[in-house]
Amino acid sequence: MAEDFLNKKIDERKEQNSFRQLSLSKDGMIDFCSNDYLGIVKNDLLNPSGRFEQPDRSGATGSRLLTGNYKLIEETEQFIANFHNAESGLIFNSGYDANVGLLSCVPQRGDTVLYDYLSHASIRDGIRLSFAQSFSFQHNDLNDVEERLKKSTGNIFVVTESVFSMDGDLCPLKELVTLCEKYKANLIIDEAHATGIIGEKGEGLVQTLNLESKIFARIHTFGKAIGVHGAIVLGSTTLRDYLINFARSFIYSTALPPAAIAQVKAGYELFPSLTKERDQLKKLIKAIRHSSIKDRFMASETPIQGVIIQGNEQAKKAARLLQDNNIDVRPILYPTVPKNQERLRIVLHSFNSENELDLLLDLVEKCF
Ligand SMILES: Cc1ncc(COP(=O)(O)O)c(C=O)c1O
Repeated sequence: MAEDFLNKKIDERKEQNSFRQLSLSKDGMIDFCSNDYLGIVKNDLLNPSGRFEQPDRSGATGSRLLTGNYKLIEETEQFIANFHNAESGLIFNSGYDANVGLLSCVPQRGDTVLYDYLSHASIRDGIRLSFAQSFSFQHNDLNDVEERLKKSTGNIFVVTESVFSMDGDLCPLKELVTLCEKYKANLIIDEAHATGIIGEKGEGLVQTLNLESKIFARIHTFGKAIGVHGAIVLGSTTLRDYLINFARSFIYSTALPPAAIAQVKAGYELFPSLTKERDQLKKLIKAIRHSSIKDRFMASETPIQGVIIQGNEQAKKAARLLQDNNIDVRPILYPTVPKNQERLRIVLHSFNSENELDLLLDLVEKCF
C-alpha cells in the first residue's frame, strides 16, 4: 500500500529530532520520571490483600448508560465527591476523556473559552471539538486573561491547570477566581498533578484554598498519584446530569472495570494517611531549591521540576547522560513543549532518597 503520505510526516519528525518511539521501562533504574509520586505503585499500596473486596464481575460489560453501570462506581463517585467537598462527580475512563468530554460539550456556539497557553493536550483537544470560540492566554498572565475576558461573549469559560504538567508551577488560582467573578466566567481547573499531592490529605489546590464553591468544574485523575486509571469531573448535580447526556467520551465508551474502580477507591482511602510521603516530597523539593544549581531549575514548588536544555538533540543527549548513570529521566521535546523550551522533566517521589537526589544534581550539573 502506498504510505508515502505517512512516511513524509514521519521523516519530518525525524529531521526535527522529535520522532517518538515506544521503549520498555528498564527495571532497576532510579525513578525520577514516573507519575508514581507517592510510591503507591512501587510499594504496592493498593495490594488487594484485605484493602478492598474483589468485585463480583471482571468487566463492566458495556457503557455506563447500558449495562456498564454498577453500584461500586456510583458509590465511588459519591465517595470522591465527598472527599473533595463537591456536590457531585462523574467518572470518565481517563483524564484525557474527561477533558475532551467536558470541554467539547459544555461550551456551546456563541460561547467563549479562554485557556492557558500551556494547557494539556486533552484540554486543547476538547476545546477544538466544541463549537464555542476559543483563545489562549499567556501562561499564568492575569492581565492577558482580563483583556480577553473583556472581549468575551456568551457563556465564558476559563480553563487551566492547578499544577502544570510540564512546568510544575501553580496557576494563580485566587486571582483567577476574582477575575472570573468580576466577568461572570466559569472557572474549570484540571487538578491532575495536584491530586494526592497538594493539601493536608492530597485534596488538591482548589480545596486547600477553600475555593470549591467558586469553581465550575474540577478534573481529578486517577492515573498519576493513585497509579490506576480514569478521572472524575466534579461539579454540581446539574453538571453531572448534563455530562451523562452530552459528553460523548462518556456516553460512547465502555465503562472502567470494577477492579480498577475498587483500586481507585482504595487509593482515595489511602490518601489521608500518606502524610510522611508528602513530607518527604517537600523535603526533596526544598533540597533542590537550596542546592548550588537551583538556578538551573524552572520555578516550581511541586514534585515536577524542569531543567531547560534548548534543542531536541541537546535535551536527548542530557537525558542519555543521566540514563547511562542509572537515573531514569526523560527529555521533553518540541513539539510537546514550545521550541527552545525543551527540557529534562524531573519528577520527585516520596521513595527517592537524599543520596539519589545528590547523584541526580551532580549529573544535571554535568549537562551544561
Ligand atoms: C494536566 C493533565 N490533564 C489531563 C491528563 C490526562 O490524564 P490521563 O493520563 O488520565 O488521560 C494529563 C496527563 O498527562 C495531564 O497532565
